[in-house]
Amino acid sequence: MRILSGIQPSGRLHLGNYFGMMLPAIQLQQGGECLYFIADYHAQTTVHNAKELREYVNGIAVDFLAAGLDPERSIFFRQSDVPEVTELSWILSTVTPMGLLERCHSYKDKLARGIAASHGLFCYPVLMAADILIYNSNLVPVGRDQKQHLEVTCDIAEKFNNMYGNIFTIPEPLIQADSAHIPGTDGQKMSKSYNNGIYLSEDEKSFRKKIMSLKTDSTPVELPKSTQDSLILQLYKLVATPEEYAAMENSFLSGGRGYGDYKKTLADALWNHFAPYRKRRHEILSSPDYIDNVLQDGAKRARAIARETMRQVRKATGLGDLPPC
Ligand code: TYM
Repeated sequence: MRILSGIQPSGRLHLGNYFGMMLPAIQLQQGGECLYFIADYHAQTTVHNAKELREYVNGIAVDFLAAGLDPERSIFFRQSDVPEVTELSWILSTVTPMGLLERCHSYKDKLARGIAASHGLFCYPVLMAADILIYNSNLVPVGRDQKQHLEVTCDIAEKFNNMYGNIFTIPEPLIQADSAHIPGTDGQKMSKSYNNGIYLSEDEKSFRKKIMSLKTDSTPVELPKSTQDSLILQLYKLVATPEEYAAMENSFLSGGRGYGDYKKTLADALWNHFAPYRKRRHEILSSPDYIDNVLQDGAKRARAIARETMRQVRKATGLGDLPPC
């Protein structure tokens, strides 16, 4: 069983990335051969400053390792250290119908947010298909916002296999029921680009301030509160034990406590949950070569797999032998 996922270095890591993808990915390290990568080619669709991109890549690497990615168990690498993936992306683009890409919500959302409609942004899902298919991945842990991209990947893989023979494994998404769509402080999906993120590396003061600013309704302290769509309850569920969660839910229904109280409980629970992450982060930051060594080793291992797939793809499609590295 090969498990793969990626994250764009287009900002700092937030609770949505952590609970939606990173935590499941880390838990899966026990059960298969895992490949996790930093999607820097993808980030180039929105980050056009070299220094910023390098800083984001480094930040995501620190965060992923501090969150529990074990480079002994998993192959952890930078997408652009395996340039074969861009070749596969090109080959896949020659069998990808325009209509398939035109239907992608993520592309339309990005245009609606004012991002320029570049060719890279439009064919983003083809590069993502190449990421997944070049490693013959079976399982791809992602948040709900990536579901359509996974469907596009399967469509492209099937089309390619029908034309050229069974080269690619058809992957399956792994989308967690409780954490596939973590809300931000305003109730929309938490996102690097919506200004509603709570970041793992925030200092305590700003972390707590953001929790205290979570959107709530104006039900007075003494009255029962709605448990439907409560941001506080949704976030608390991620870190509380079932008993702690049931106690807060019952208290909502009985009334008598204000939202400020619940937010404080939530802030304590979340802050404590990330104590091991902060400790590990501090250790990683104090050994500067560690990240480079991990990423270089990961790239070597990932590239060997990718090049094997590309040998088959080149042969099946009529291209020449893969040139040496
Ligand atoms: P990215 O960088 O936007 O997000 C990384 C992962 O975090 C998940 N996520 C969320 N999950 C729950 N709630 C949220 N609010 C939330 N926000 C983000 C995303 O679903 C994602 O799993 N295109 C990908 C990166 C990528 C990739 C791949 C992923 C490139 N190639 C191949 C898997 C396989 C992306 O932009 O993720």
